[in-house]
Amino acid sequence: MEKNAYDEPISSGKYEPPSGLIGKYDNVRRLWEDEVIGIFLSPYLEQLVVEGNKIRILDLGCGSGDGYDLLMGVKRQNVTTSQHDVNVINPDLIDTYLGFDINPSLVAQANAIHGGSRGVVFQEMDFNHLLSKFDDEPPYDLYFAAYGTLSHNTDDETVRLLSQIAKHSRDGSIILCDWLGRYSYEWQPLWTKDMEQNKTIDYLISYIYSNGDEGEKEISSFPLRLLSSKETLAIIEQSSIDAGVQIETEELFDRSIFMGRHIDTAQYNPCCKPMRRALNSLLEPNFRTDLQELMVDYVPRDGFPELNDFYQNLEGCWNALVRYTMELLQRFDAEELGRLPGGGGEALDVPSFLRRTQRVPASRLQSTSQTSTTVTARSALKKAMLEMETVVTGASALNIADPRANIIEPQLCYCLRQLEMELQQGEGCGHGLVAILKVHK
Ligand SMILES: C[S@@+](CC[C@H](N)C(=O)[O-])C[C@H]1O[C@@H](n2cnc3c(N)ncnc32)[C@H](O)[C@@H]1O
Repeated sequence: MEKNAYDEPISSGKYEPPSGLIGKYDNVRRLWEDEVIGIFLSPYLEQLVVEGNKIRILDLGCGSGDGYDLLMGVKRQNVTTSQHDVNVINPDLIDTYLGFDINPSLVAQANAIHGGSRGVVFQEMDFNHLLSKFDDEPPYDLYFAAYGTLSHNTDDETVRLLSQIAKHSRDGSIILCDWLGRYSYEWQPLWTKDMEQNKTIDYLISYIYSNGDEGEKEISSFPLRLLSSKETLAIIEQSSIDAGVQIETEELFDRSIFMGRHIDTAQYNPCCKPMRRALNSLLEPNFRTDLQELMVDYVPRDGFPELNDFYQNLEGCWNALVRYTMELLQRFDAEELGRLPGGGGEALDVPSFLRRTQRVPASRLQSTSQTSTTVTARSALKKAMLEMETVVTGASALNIADPRANIIEPQLCYCLRQLEMELQQGEGCGHGLVAILKVHK
């Protein structure tokens, strides 16, 4: 046996155990964050490929090209259970996918991973110096700057970039922008009412190291812009004026509210609990989670009543859903063992649970909607509870492949994701504040 036979695969890193519990591509990144962006983007992407049009995509700050996978994974909105081909786009629908990044190592990695696909190219380039070179190029259908990329820019740079994009684009082009949210719980001590204060955060990418992994490593930080909805809308408006082109804000949403990357590090807010770890665990195959770890414990900050209200509203619904699921599981076990809690057994339907639980005060279940959506917190929570009731009732009776770990827990995670999507208000309360814009010419 050749002694060194496995050295090469080991040093390549490809011999490491796959785990969705940690790292850049953890379960939450792939199954929550990427998916939420895809769900919001789906109707706009569908419009771009009507009648099988091939599309042109420009990925700004493409990093290692993850945007390509994200976009290829976006699902159509209305699909039936029996359909298997549900993605909006596929490699055959790509005319051009051009990714730019300032970091040559990331560009090399992007080319190594995706460079072989037809029409796909990644190049080293500063996106602030890019569009002046584009005069002779046809417009792109989608300009895509995901995962906090635009927080690397000053506001002036972003206004210049967006107005160049608006001029270069065609009627109907879509622009997706993503910044860090000013009011994420992850950095609650940085919240301020004076918009001239704390405009940036000294951002550390410490979260990709698993516990203690960082050892002696010096982790460098860099400034990233934090934005509220008001500041974001002002940037978009100024870009539109400068370009002389109408840029419509179609969506403005908070992503990753209680589970952004720095919830687990508690580096900026020591009150944060490791919620991301718990959600990663929910999504991990064959892995059971202590559901108690999913309970949010929001600590309000004096002087910010509206933000506290928003967070406590979401916290109330979130915790109610987790608690209801725990009770459903206990109820199933009790029935299986022939003993119902409380003698004859208290009803565990959604309305009676909501009546009984004192922990979700009515004031926390009122409408939080300031946007076009009419969904109230109460109806979003009820919908999620009914979903979990169906899942727990149906799956608990199965005997193959640990239905608790493989069906019930992931579904609970998707219901929590849905709650986040329905209750968020696009105010900058998530790790990311995402805008989907449409150009009208
Ligand atoms: C937060 S990462 C996002 C990476 C990628 N878009 C993703 O979805 O994972 C931001 C990226 O923007 C790149 N970047 C920052 N400033 C840039 C600039 N002026 N021009 C081009 N790329 C830039 C960084 O190198 C980094 O890869």
